[in-house]
Amino acid sequence: MEQTLSIIKPDGVGRALIGEVIKRFEANDIKIVAMKMVHMSKQQAEGFYAVHRERPFFNSLTDFMCSGPAVVMVLEGENVIARNRDLMGATNYEEAAAGTIRKDFATSIERNIVHGSDAPETAAFEIGYFFNAFEIMS
Ligand code: CMP
Repeated sequence: MEQTLSIIKPDGVGRALIGEVIKRFEANDIKIVAMKMVHMSKQQAEGFYAVHRERPFFNSLTDFMCSGPAVVMVLEGENVIARNRDLMGATNYEEAAAGTIRKDFATSIERNIVHGSDAPETAAFEIGYFFNAFEIMS
């Protein structure tokens, strides 16, 4: 059994897509074992995306991530890191497969509705960034 962190970003929350995203997880046998709404500060967004600190889009990305509330979730299931990324689609929505969350709803490479951890080590860091052990109903 694997866990991953999912974020419905401020564009997804603002466009009333929380239910749509959660419906796709539940329809695909992915269990939500922790969930909360957060409005990140600039500093929290910078800490979360610290691996991208040197990228040209870092400032814009972290501004966007603290522009409104986001929903953070821990997802659990077999091979859930890869399965969540399949449901999300490619980072660049123009390259995302048909039927994926980003293909259906993203409006730019930055405003791409959802985030999902990309590996077990990043999942551990990202889950710990938002949740303590008592908040995860595993
Ligand atoms: P995410 O999967 O959350 O990981 C990093 C985020 O940076 C990405 O989704 C996008 O929202 C954002 N981003 C903006 N520009 C780019 C880019 N050129 N390449 C990758 N990610 C980008």
